Amino acid sequence: MTGSAEAPTRDRPVVLWPVGEDNRAAILALELTPKQQGFVASNADSLEEAREDDEAIARAVVTAGRVVGFLMYSAPDEDDEAVIYRLMIDRREQGKGLGRAAVAAALEEIAHPGHIRRVSICYAPRNEAARRLYASFGFVEQGLDEDDEMIAMLELRP
Ligand SMILES: CC(C)(COP(=O)(O)OP(=O)(O)OC[C@H]1O[C@@H](n2cnc3c(N)ncnc32)[C@H](O)[C@@H]1OP(=O)(O)O)[C@@H](O)C(=O)NCCC(=O)NCCS
Repeated sequence: MTGSAEAPTRDRPVVLWPVGEDNRAAILALELTPKQQGFVASNADSLEEAREDDEAIARAVVTAGRVVGFLMYSAPDEDDEAVIYRLMIDRREQGKGLGRAAVAAALEEIAHPGHIRRVSICYAPRNEAARRLYASFGFVEQGLDEDDEMIAMLELRP
């Protein structure tokens, strides 16, 4: 890993790294609390999904050289909407601002190529942590989807 991944700063407490052989085991070792396990697919399932889906972009959330979380999104070239569909921070690392930093880093990465105008996410309506976290970025709740998951949308500024 490069120096920037080793040295988190106040402005950039986490970096996102592509998933590879060097961090796959660390991602699989991340844990949620029992209550949170129903909120998001297991990382094993997500990595399998990423392997099969060309549009899935999987990232390790890294701080100070340690993998502390995982996220996955899609931002197809031919579309102007990105979807963040997985986000988790290890239960031992929660409550330290790392989830917020991971969302900020993901939004920066998604906005970078320039073709994405909006970002959607979904979460269980009773997932208060997710609701508050995304609302603080300006995601606006759109209503429930066919699986009774809340959809929220963020319009990116041009
Ligand atoms: C949601 C999650 C990623 C937040 O990660 P985190 O590192 O603990 O979050 P942060 O410390 O950066 O907190 C950011 C904001 O999230 C919200 N939040 C985090 N934990 C919360 C809790 N237990 N209760 C209520 N709000 C909470 C708050 O708004 C917080 O901002 P604040 O500290 O200014 O109040 C983490 O709780 C998690 O992995 N949950 C299980 C998986 C999941 O639900 N993923 C999202 C759905 S895909």
